[in-house]
Amino acid sequence: MVNDKREQTISNKEVYEAEDVVSSYTTESSLSEPEKTVLNIFKDRLKNMRMLDIGIGGGRTTCNFAHIAKEYVGIDYSGNMINACKKRFPTPPESISFRVCDVRSMRIFEDNYFDFVLFSYNGIDVISHMDRLKALQEIERVCRIGGYFCFSSHNLQGIDQLFTPQLSANPIRTLKKIAKYFLLRPTIKKLKQSRYAMIRDGAHNHRLVHYYIKPKEQIEQLSSAGFRNVRVYSLDGKEIEDKSRLGTITDTLWLYYLCEA
Ligand SMILES: C[S@@+](CC[C@H](N)C(=O)[O-])C[C@H]1O[C@@H](n2cnc3c(N)ncnc32)[C@H](O)[C@@H]1O
Repeated sequence: MVNDKREQTISNKEVYEAEDVVSSYTTESSLSEPEKTVLNIFKDRLKNMRMLDIGIGGGRTTCNFAHIAKEYVGIDYSGNMINACKKRFPTPPESISFRVCDVRSMRIFEDNYFDFVLFSYNGIDVISHMDRLKALQEIERVCRIGGYFCFSSHNLQGIDQLFTPQLSANPIRTLKKIAKYFLLRPTIKKLKQSRYAMIRDGAHNHRLVHYYIKPKEQIEQLSSAGFRNVRVYSLDGKEIEDKSRLGTITDTLWLYYLCEA
């Protein structure tokens, strides 16, 4: 676990430039259940939509969205991820392009250009709190009024799952894990009282630090950035229509959000 203000030893960007991490993303092509739900919502309209796919990694979502959209631009701040996409999709039609670009500063795109912006698989969670707010403003800027933004993000209310000790065949190891859990309990409790937190959650061999946020706080962040009509989806692809339930969702480590600019 880290404090938001503390510098990380290896930056998250360096992790996403690493060869082993890049190659782990280059063969994926299937969509998660909430992504399928969102694709279903837009599939008939995508042929008239300009789509920006942020943090495309190895092109998992490219396989599903690029050929349907009127225009598809895939960006990533990792040059190695973009090179991998260019290799994976070597001769794309003119309507499909890949660019190295950081979501925090998308000056290469004009205001109100895209009809649909996607930032999938918690990509938005690898930047700090202040940078996240900047990123949301940038996304709102490039999204046309009435356009859509969809992304997923870690759920701070679900973090008990991260720390619950897994029993192992070795009783000493199990005891150590249980002791560690009890030592960590006050910190976990404190984290859960925060609105958001940066947590080293084990992803990519503990190299990544992820932003976790409470769903209600996420909705407020979106609204401050100019987004409205926020819909929230759980990992089974179903919308959580009753927003009063959001404060009690502890059984999932991440959620999908769909909102309008
Ligand atoms: C978890 S991976 C997901 C990759 C891909 N979207 C997928 O679902 O398989 C997150 C991606 O977001 C990219 N990313 C993270 N921060 C970014 C930023 N500030 N600007 C652009 N891309 C970013 C990373 O380089 C990485 O490729």
